[in-house]
Amino acid sequence: VSRIIPVEQFDLIIFGGTGDLARRKILPGLFKRFADGQVPEGSRIIGAARSEMDQAAFLTFAEEAVRDAEGDKIDATVLKDFLAILDYVAIDALGEEGWSALAEKMREGPVRAFYFSVGPSLFDDLARRLQQYDLVKPDTRIVVEKPFGHDLETARALNKVLSAHFDESQIYRIDHYLGKETVQNLMAVRFGNMLFEPLWNSQYIDHVQITVAETVGVGGRGGYYDKSGAMRDMVQNHLMQLLCLTAMEPPAKFDPDAVRDEKLKVIRALEPVEPHQIVRGQYDKTDSESNFRDDVENPSSKTESFVALKCHVGNWRWAGTPFYLRTGKRLEARDSEIIVVFKSTPHSIFGSDAGGGHNELRIQLQPDEGITLKVTIKEPGPGGMRLMDVPLDMSFAETLGEHADTPDAYERLIMDVIRGNQTLFMRDDEVEAAWAWTDPIIQGWEAVHDVPKPYDSYSQGPTDATLLMQRDGREWREIG
Ligand code: BG6
Repeated sequence: VSRIIPVEQFDLIIFGGTGDLARRKILPGLFKRFADGQVPEGSRIIGAARSEMDQAAFLTFAEEAVRDAEGDKIDATVLKDFLAILDYVAIDALGEEGWSALAEKMREGPVRAFYFSVGPSLFDDLARRLQQYDLVKPDTRIVVEKPFGHDLETARALNKVLSAHFDESQIYRIDHYLGKETVQNLMAVRFGNMLFEPLWNSQYIDHVQITVAETVGVGGRGGYYDKSGAMRDMVQNHLMQLLCLTAMEPPAKFDPDAVRDEKLKVIRALEPVEPHQIVRGQYDKTDSESNFRDDVENPSSKTESFVALKCHVGNWRWAGTPFYLRTGKRLEARDSEIIVVFKSTPHSIFGSDAGGGHNELRIQLQPDEGITLKVTIKEPGPGGMRLMDVPLDMSFAETLGEHADTPDAYERLIMDVIRGNQTLFMRDDEVEAAWAWTDPIIQGWEAVHDVPKPYDSYSQGPTDATLLMQRDGREWREIG
């Protein structure tokens, strides 16, 4: 039985088609879907950019992008066939150049999607030209990338720009974390099993830890990152989405608005975070590496590359159960996970020093995807009744064998755009609610000129983050 869900024939136009995201994610992702047989015959992918590239140069660009991502695994014939569905048009978002040429390439019939893989400052111009050249049909899809705004005000302005030209049902705001396989698995585990949902509340759950740790620094994105920081770059979007999926009520259906309504309620229920419940950090030198300030070329930068915070979802289900979120760059390991820590058993019949009694559900997003449930058993041996916690392990690679070839988030999300399924995309009100929660935190830092705590590169982060948990008698699970 084929696991591939067919999609309709499509024309996908990528503005910013010669950019970094197209090279790293979009083109390789499309290639993999093509190689898997999911791209129907007659579909086309049209790169559109200002670069002085011609068709041949774009094909070379795409070929290199695919080779970089896929290495030696590539079948030469498949690659050749893939390149044959690519096309290119040089276009100027701010002028007339290229638009008639693009209009001529458009066909009636296939699903049409425009991917805005460009900075948000170009959204308005692109939208206007699309309308001017009559390129948008009622079921045309518009895909937009993060950063979706810098704060609530700019996010609202972007939503206004988009809604002036398109219907919300046409807009696909990407948060690539929602395309990650294990993130979707979180929903499968919660709502596909009888086992967890009855316990999924503050009566049984002590706290939740969500960590997204990276080893990379800010790389070549210093200019952007120094104005952004971890709160805007990661917490407002990716960590918030993970929190929502963990905390939301069961939607009645796995359908776009049902799911997004429930996520929105979580964001709106978030209580404001007090300054003492949040720690900012900035990575510092180790012997051989640069520090954050070198990387962003700003010797007095007060931008954070790390955030740890404690928050509360103020509703009936979660009252009293804190959610601890943590993310940072240049940490000890690349390690992203959601850990649901259950309360200890109320009474140990084996005596208080027998051990055990600590259940924990760990949903590992990366590097290796998998789900582990820590359960208590008897320590083997003839001795007394000593208990130990052992993991019931479902590492996807081992358990699922050949089915474990987890697709990249972009593969999934782009195909969802073509299928017209918005479930894994953010709605306008969701994005705005997330900013409404984040803004006061950032404004608070700005008001007091808060200086982030330095932490050693490749460490567990600033000591204050450890203390944030210790004060509550809890502990972060180690990164790595
Ligand atoms: C991006 C951020 O959205 O997500 C980057 O802008 C970050 O700073 C990246 O490195 C992390 O994504 P992933 O999929 O590698 O965890």
